[in-house]
Amino acid sequence: MFKTLFFAKGQKKFSFFLTDIYIMPKRLYPSLVKKIKSEHRNHLEEKMVNSGAHEMKKICEDLEHRYHVSGKDLMGLGTSCIALKYGRDEVIKVCSKHIKYFHCSKTTSARDFQKNMKPLQPELLPMKDIIYDGKDFFVYVQDRCQPLSKKSKISRRDFADIIGIIQAIFSQGLLVGQLKPKNLGYWSSQGERRQLVLFDYHSMHNLHDRMKSKTQWWHSLDKSLEYYCRSFSKGKTSSLEKFRQYIRTVKSKDYDREKVNRLLDKAQEEVLSH
Ligand SMILES: Nc1ncnc2c1ncn2[C@@H]1O[C@H](COP(=O)(O)OP(=O)(O)O)[C@@H](O)[C@H]1O
Ligand SMILES: [Mg+2]
Repeated sequence: MFKTLFFAKGQKKFSFFLTDIYIMPKRLYPSLVKKIKSEHRNHLEEKMVNSGAHEMKKICEDLEHRYHVSGKDLMGLGTSCIALKYGRDEVIKVCSKHIKYFHCSKTTSARDFQKNMKPLQPELLPMKDIIYDGKDFFVYVQDRCQPLSKKSKISRRDFADIIGIIQAIFSQGLLVGQLKPKNLGYWSSQGERRQLVLFDYHSMHNLHDRMKSKTQWWHSLDKSLEYYCRSFSKGKTSSLEKFRQYIRTVKSKDYDREKVNRLLDKAQEEVLSH
């Protein structure tokens, strides 16, 4: 396509192709593959490039056309999921169905996943809208939050929020694989205070099943708690220590949900008290 410009003074005329000044948007799928490879994200490469490429390409084309996102909107790469900027306040997440949640559940319906996680709000950042539910992938919209930096010291309120997240998960008879800082973020819903929430719960599974199938079912959670205790240098955490001791030693048949709830209540009080 040609455009012609006339300069007022010498009426000098020159023409150029529109494409010379109009930068084509970066295509989503090729940009994604490039980023996955350059950052050596082997898990994502396995799930989105080596297999599942056909479905993934279609999803990317659809997102470009219907949601006007492009390669420049790529923001976060995980092990099963990629996040794209969507407007100022939201992200679109394209997630593989090869995640622990679906390995452990009866269906692979993303809507069931969304519904089953509802009782855990607001400690879990909601999947606001499922925009695609396919064979190997699902896509959802989530509020954008500010991921917790590994460098920052956590405040009393942050630590109490983390304990609240664990309490919400255990009270539903569930367990999450990764409660690491990279999966927690600051978020506030309208009119509410800014709080720490869990935005990645793709590894959620049944607590009792896990207790029966894996002796050290508590290991990953305990490691994360050890890390948070170290970053939180401000005070007593003896009830949290009791909770850690309890989950390390309790037999599945003796597990007492009420006791866990009480210990975590006390742990929150302790952390918040001066
Ligand atoms: N709601 C969100 N707000 C901001 N960044 C996000 C959000 N969700 C995901 N991300 C970014 O995308 C990355 C991958 O998403 P995540 O949900 O953690 O998937 P995975 O299960 O693959 O780890 C995160 O580490 C983070 O950088
Ligand atoms: Mg993650």
